[in-house]
Amino acid sequence: LNPKEQPLGPDGGWRESAGAWLKLIEAGDPSRELLLDPFMLTAAGDVSGLRVLDVGCGEGRFCRLLTVRGAKCVGLDLTRELLTAARAKTDGREAYVLGSGETLPFRDASFDLVVLYLSLIDIADFRSAIGEAARVLRRGGRLLVAGFSAVASAANGWVRDESGRRLHMPVDRYLEERPLLLEWSGIRILNWHRPLSAYFEAYLGAGLKLLKYVEPMPADPSLKDDPRFEDWFRVPNFDLSVWQKE
Ligand SMILES: C[S@@+](CC[C@H](N)C(=O)[O-])C[C@H]1O[C@@H](n2cnc3c(N)ncnc32)[C@H](O)[C@@H]1O
Repeated sequence: LNPKEQPLGPDGGWRESAGAWLKLIEAGDPSRELLLDPFMLTAAGDVSGLRVLDVGCGEGRFCRLLTVRGAKCVGLDLTRELLTAARAKTDGREAYVLGSGETLPFRDASFDLVVLYLSLIDIADFRSAIGEAARVLRRGGRLLVAGFSAVASAANGWVRDESGRRLHMPVDRYLEERPLLLEWSGIRILNWHRPLSAYFEAYLGAGLKLLKYVEPMPADPSLKDDPRFEDWFRVPNFDLSVWQKE
């Protein structure tokens, strides 16, 4: 990477952004709560008794959602400050481990379900992260991924008219893998754009079979009238995929 494109250090800015991230998540994130959680929980299915690894778990919100549904969840994250928050919020049923998704500190075949909830887009070496997720899954185990849609990450925002109305997303350099510097609400982090084909090649190369691919729209159609959520009905901001280890 050109140093000009990597101004945030090897953790992609997460340590510095941890405080602002906690505020954002604790205030409630509509993208997760209204759009992604329902799909992720449905895709996870009955997790009772399953050994689950949540890679890039942040402050542990999805681990807690799976734990109350009976899973035995381990959360792993690169950011110590977020794990401290996760440990403060758990009743002790989940375990939290500091580490990178690129080199998981777990034995082969030690999980039934691995989750990457809006975290693969933060991981610089996504090919290693996908390979590692596949390695720690048992045969027949599943990998559940929520990501930014490659369409949205190629555009990185809307073209708007003078009154701020969204006109269209300026998709360009779609085929080029590249970092994106994102700044909002005191958060300053690096995400990555990769074409969908690059992701698919990595999943298939890791011996994973696609079970489901979803570009989610809110279940509640009345949200369409709310300008905050209008774009969810127009373009795929996120995607969700379920993979199985062969
Ligand atoms: C957008 S947050 C998502 C957190 C959580 N999954 C959620 O949905 O609330 C991305 C997370 O990935 C973590 N992260 C970034 N690079 C990582 C890496 N190489 N390995 C593990 N976690 C990483 C960050 O610390 C951050 O907690």
